[in-house]
Amino acid sequence: MKRVSVFRKEHFNAAHRLHNENLSDAENAALFGRCNYPNYHGHNYDLIVQVTGEIDPVSGYVMDMKVLSDLIKEKVTEEFDHRNLNLDIEEFRTLIPTAENIAIVIYDRLRPHIDNSKDLKIRLYETERNYVEYPA
Ligand code: NI
Repeated sequence: MKRVSVFRKEHFNAAHRLHNENLSDAENAALFGRCNYPNYHGHNYDLIVQVTGEIDPVSGYVMDMKVLSDLIKEKVTEEFDHRNLNLDIEEFRTLIPTAENIAIVIYDRLRPHIDNSKDLKIRLYETERNYVEYPA
């Protein structure tokens, strides 16, 4: 059976600060540079969610894109958009909100709601030039 990937692109703006509580202020500044500034900074994140699987013979879809879009909004963008990731999002109380970790959090929020027969992949652009993918 042929497998096809479908992609949904979404967007959110959010603030964050890269800071490791276990390091000194000087070590944090050396490690994270401007990303460690104490008063946070923002990014315009572009999120691309990829779902791969076989085509449903009844609908002709891999996944209904309206369902996927609503799911991303409910589980991710409605909560993340215009927020401070460090302060407002539970997962980042104990996890540094790098693009890598944000991608994993997004994956973990969506995975339980997408059929197990389908593969899920997250691509997150933190800038136009920097992006991450999870799973690798
Ligand atoms: Ni940043």
